[in-house]
Amino acid sequence: MKVPGAGGWTFEDKGIAAAFDQHVREQLPWYDLATGAVAHIARHYIPAGGLVYDVGCATGNVGRALAETLQARDATLIGIESSAEMAERYVGPGQIMVANAASVDFAPCDLIVCFLTLMFIPRPERVAMIRRMRASLRPGGALVVFEKIEAGSGYPATVLWRLALAGKVAAGVDAGEIVAKELSLSGVQRPLAASELGQGAIEWFRFGDFGGWLIEHQAEAQGARRTKGA
Ligand SMILES: C[S@@+](CC[C@H](N)C(=O)[O-])C[C@H]1O[C@@H](n2cnc3c(N)ncnc32)[C@H](O)[C@@H]1O
Repeated sequence: MKVPGAGGWTFEDKGIAAAFDQHVREQLPWYDLATGAVAHIARHYIPAGGLVYDVGCATGNVGRALAETLQARDATLIGIESSAEMAERYVGPGQIMVANAASVDFAPCDLIVCFLTLMFIPRPERVAMIRRMRASLRPGGALVVFEKIEAGSGYPATVLWRLALAGKVAAGVDAGEIVAKELSLSGVQRPLAASELGQGAIEWFRFGDFGGWLIEHQAEAQGARRTKGA
């Protein structure tokens, strides 16, 4: 895959869209493990006849992982993808909207998955979007987020940064490509601050700077806090 220059990463590119499925597995060694965990969590929140959003659905990874549950429960999946080049390669269930998710009015729904997507949405837009996604959840519903988050500090930050590098090297990625990819993300990919998720986010995964969170519909989250405090 030809990696763009510094700050030039884009999903609106046929070459990047074609290479995406292989590229993401080389760059993120835990990609399939985390996808499987999302499918497991999703199974607990998709009701019969439910509505699910996959935000930044790309080539259909999350949709395919959820397919069995969606079919068994006769639930609907709407994928949102801003890149026409990625959407063209979508293979999975449901329907796709080619749109900027930050401008979408989410219908009342049961599950929203953001898997490696919020980090590509500018901060002011994504903070408002997280609020709107949370507000669109029906009682019993949940938002599942999996993203790169801001690095910690001190020596552990160095150790964990090297952990990410070592994973890419072990996957056989060329050292020059690792550096070029990282620089191409400058100003395009901005890791989340965990505080952007708001209250009640439960961490369910962590590998270095990548983490997964589960955020339930507000009433459930408040109920859990009350029970804990009782
Ligand atoms: C790393 S990929 C996500 C991968 C995908 N969720 C998966 O499971 O493999 C990020 C995707 O989010 C899309 N994206 C970025 N910003 C977006 C936005 N504002 N609205 C919708 N999709 C967006 C990109 O085009 C890209 O396809």
